[in-house]
Amino acid sequence: MRHRPGSHAGLLAVGALVLAAAGTLAGCGSGDSPSSSASSASSAGPELKVTGAYMPAPSMDTMAAGFFTVTNSGGADTLTSVTSDLSDEVTMHATENGAMQEKKSFAVPAEGTLDFASGGNHLMFAKLTHKPEQGEKVSVELHFAKSGTVRISMPVKSATYNPKTGH
Ligand code: CU
Repeated sequence: MRHRPGSHAGLLAVGALVLAAAGTLAGCGSGDSPSSSASSASSAGPELKVTGAYMPAPSMDTMAAGFFTVTNSGGADTLTSVTSDLSDEVTMHATENGAMQEKKSFAVPAEGTLDFASGGNHLMFAKLTHKPEQGEKVSVELHFAKSGTVRISMPVKSATYNPKTGH
């Protein structure tokens, strides 16, 4: 993934919004998935599973990327924000025609998947609290409109890690 200097200038502007959002989410609790025992009369709720999360070890302590896959075996949901101890400025980006674009949310289709993968959608962690080293695990909270908060442990891999080859 290549990021030109200045291509994330907009992060400064959204920082305040992210901070505000983090404040309202402070009471979210442990991040356990909500119980599915409360059945919905109208439509099935989402059933989310997050797999394959990783962060390539960043070369600097200013910015890092993150990837994962959300698999949904239920109804549609929306990924609305991401927070982490590593950064107060976690943003979600899509890559369209080779240019990245910040997104406020990502749809999680019913009975489908939402993929954050190298060269495509990615998380950007700015203003890191420290430089993550390979082997470390970064705690990341994914906030969904219906499923609430899903906390994942994102292992830090080598800078050139490729999930397809496993190294
Ligand atoms: Cu980006």
